[in-house]
Amino acid sequence: MEYGAILAPIGGFAAAVETFHAHGGCGLNVTVPFKLDAYSFSTALTERARSAGAVNTLKFNGETVLGDNTDGAGLVADITMRLGVALAGKRVLLMGAGGAARGAVLPLLAQKPMLLAIANRTMEKAVALAARWTYLGEVRGGGYADFADEHFDVVINATSASLNGDTPPLSKRVFASAALAYDMVYGERSTSFLGAAKSFGACRVADGLGMLIEQAAESFLLWRGVRPDTGPVIAMLGA
Ligand code: ATR
Repeated sequence: MEYGAILAPIGGFAAAVETFHAHGGCGLNVTVPFKLDAYSFSTALTERARSAGAVNTLKFNGETVLGDNTDGAGLVADITMRLGVALAGKRVLLMGAGGAARGAVLPLLAQKPMLLAIANRTMEKAVALAARWTYLGEVRGGGYADFADEHFDVVINATSASLNGDTPPLSKRVFASAALAYDMVYGERSTSFLGAAKSFGACRVADGLGMLIEQAAESFLLWRGVRPDTGPVIAMLGA
């Protein structure tokens, strides 16, 4: 197989994918800013893609274009497998209520946490997101202030705040003795959030490089029916 990069122009997503398919392409990963275009382009969706409202993986299957979202599964695989932090029975705080957070909710709930709290700057979005999934477990949404006095085992930053060097306005108490603070962003851009989390008492911090690797492995599984061993890739990239 061949796997490479295609730079599509804004507004040119569908044309780029059709050309790729016409030349024998079987499937694609899709990244920003095209995850909503990929969602619209899909003729069938997996449950996790529908719940995320965004698609990062396409697979051509005869006339069907299957849209999937492997980001949340990648996040959970990185936390539970590479980092070895269990989510079952734990208090988990997810920050943000945009596309990245939406993609994480279902895979996080599948781990059966004791509580999944969703905090967002625009409180109404977190409340609405949580309300959608209460039948699957204990899910609560609110503003950052609503969770200021609570303790969490795992705190996940799914906001785009890190992209601007900002940190969501979380109280220090939230991080005290937290087993893990995780930023979905990776590299330099994660340092302000992870640095703050550490200084507020988080035992361990991790950026999203492992998630990037794991979501790719999950996409490969959809395309080829085999989940590659991510260990060597993680070692090579120093995640
Ligand atoms: P993405 O697809 O990366 O999730 P998005 O859908 O635009 O991007 O969502 C961005 C998220 O980051 C939102 O939850 C946003 O909060 P609002 O809904 O209140 O806008 C959050 N966000 C962005 N900048 C932030 C900041 N400086 N502090 C806190 N939250 C921030």
